[in-house]
Amino acid sequence: MSMRVKTGIYGLDPLLGGGFLPNTVNVVLGTTGVGKTLFSLHYAFEGLKNGENCLYISFDMNENEILKTARSMGWDVDKYVNEGSLKVRKFVVEDITFLNNELLSFIFNNVSGRTRIVIDSFTPLVSTHDYSVRKDVNWFFERLREVGTTVITLEEPLSGNIDYPHILMPVFLGDSLIHMKKLGYGDVLDRIIRILKHRNSWHAEGVFPYKILKGLGIVVDSKNYVERLERKVELREVLSDEEIENLPEELLERIKLALEDNVYNEREVVSLVKWVIECYLSSNRS
Ligand SMILES: Nc1ncnc2c1ncn2[C@@H]1O[C@H](COP(=O)(O)OP(=O)(O)OP(=O)(O)O)[C@@H](O)[C@H]1O
Ligand SMILES: [Mg+2]
Repeated sequence: MSMRVKTGIYGLDPLLGGGFLPNTVNVVLGTTGVGKTLFSLHYAFEGLKNGENCLYISFDMNENEILKTARSMGWDVDKYVNEGSLKVRKFVVEDITFLNNELLSFIFNNVSGRTRIVIDSFTPLVSTHDYSVRKDVNWFFERLREVGTTVITLEEPLSGNIDYPHILMPVFLGDSLIHMKKLGYGDVLDRIIRILKHRNSWHAEGVFPYKILKGLGIVVDSKNYVERLERKVELREVLSDEEIENLPEELLERIKLALEDNVYNEREVVSLVKWVIECYLSSNRS
């Protein structure tokens, strides 16, 4: 298993199979107030604590406002600004033809070592565009992947309708998609988070409640799910000796991959693998 880039968000990394894959662009989608900026800061703070560098690009808030939000959570990010490992830059949308040189040079002149890049939010960059700039977004994501591991946030309309090119483009082109949602039903049904895709990786299915707590930031309640998944399943638990003898080597290898690849093996994997064998046997009988 490749090294993961931990979000640092409690309860979320296990749902991603350990974190993001390195050199990917990861999308966090949500309506106003769900915690996209806190997610971004949490992700940045996690890297900074581990000696990584972070470039934080904002279109709404200036450096002071971003740092104020971090301070309000009790996170001492100022020292990383002083050290130079955290660079925050506000860009003004009006000045930006798509991906202007200033933005690109800010990113590519400042990357060094292991770098986390945050764009909070990506929406102003593409909000007036249609699918014709898809190749530009694709090009930009490719460059981002070369230099670091990126989180971009996307603004979901309050109507919940995301069927617009400027939302779907980054959603389709990103390597992972995390959806944060405020239901407003209070308690466990107030805020929920789910992972909709994670290219080249396992990810958890389903929705998970989360809370925003001063100091701890975003905390995802995935305890029951993670505990249920924790045990690794052995080949011998799924297949009898006789089956191992009789199945073709090629199928056995693929079954082994299915059991090993996932960081967490769902119990359902056992019954699915048994079902695969039944399918194999019945297709061979007929
Ligand atoms: N110190 C805190 N303690 C508890 N909750 C907090 C704290 N700071 C922020 N929050 C919660 O986080 C929410 C805002 O989070 P955030 O600014 O990350 O959202 P956003 O998705 O970026 O929204 P926006 O559309 O404004 O960009 C607040 O509405 C509040 O509920
Ligand atoms: Mg925000």
